[in-house]
Amino acid sequence: MSRKVILDVDTGTDDAVAIMFAALHPELDLIAVTTVNGNVPVHHCTDNSLRVLDFIGRRDVPVFEGLARPLVRLDFPTPKSFRRDSAEDMHGTELPIPAPTSVKQETGAVEFLIETLLGTTEPITLVPVGPLSNIAAALALEPRIADAVHEVVIMGGGHHLGNETASAEFNIWADPEAADMVFAAGIERLTLVPLDATHKALVTKADCEAFEALDTPAGTAAARFIGRRVDAYGSGNRVAATAAAPVHDALCTAFLVAPEVIATKPCHVRVETHGTRTLGRTVIDTRTHAREPPNCEVAFDADARLFVRLLSEVFGSPI
Ligand code: BDR
Ligand code: CA
Repeated sequence: MSRKVILDVDTGTDDAVAIMFAALHPELDLIAVTTVNGNVPVHHCTDNSLRVLDFIGRRDVPVFEGLARPLVRLDFPTPKSFRRDSAEDMHGTELPIPAPTSVKQETGAVEFLIETLLGTTEPITLVPVGPLSNIAAALALEPRIADAVHEVVIMGGGHHLGNETASAEFNIWADPEAADMVFAAGIERLTLVPLDATHKALVTKADCEAFEALDTPAGTAAARFIGRRVDAYGSGNRVAATAAAPVHDALCTAFLVAPEVIATKPCHVRVETHGTRTLGRTVIDTRTHAREPPNCEVAFDADARLFVRLLSEVFGSPI
């Protein structure tokens, strides 16, 4: 039996790869995609998610649009340090595949999450890979979803690395109050995949060429999306000696089918919501004598070659 998954995304090039992986992997049943303000304004996240699903022949997966703003900070996310759609922009406003013909659902993402998670006894895994605004809003309306959800796998945060600021990773920084609510919610099976792990799972330009050669819609799209990321990282953000980039969000979906793709440790995690230089930092207690019990499994390492092999297998298979 395949595992039921809801992806909460701010699509985005790496979100797009995560959507394709979850939509095409035979062991995963992607029951819905929910969108949130993040990499681009939420209506573009929705449009991009629909584009991806149409392009790979999964128009049957419904897309529910969520929050257009963070919970508290009306000025977040502030304009990025790079020019939107410039070579340094690793997402671009619109993904470089045809516009969708399918449309979003009328129900909002938060309503959908509450109705679905409370309305079934079947295990559902929630994978938020954008700012945590939708998940926090759902928890605020219905705290029972913390118990109802089977497992939550979050892409966000960093212990040794930041990207949006020296202290903070983008998803957590973009709605820090929401993120802190989620870590404090008492979710029993919670995994955090921070930059520490995603930067160990770099995908190279040569891998993109191999995806292109698969000659499938998903292979072509993956080559385009990840290629853009590699180029953007190359234009000032270099992360490796060879041309390569992290594909953060897809590491979470790979973990669902191959847990060994990351290596985790149990830790207590909360989010800094006050600091002037540390706003949005995931405070990950790695001490052996931590006062508070772990609330999360945190990934500190990843197997890059296994990750690329998993992507290649899924994107190379006929639907
Ligand atoms: C995260 O931020 C977004 O830009 C990416 O889609 C990913 O979810 C990485 O910091
Ligand atoms: Ca994302």
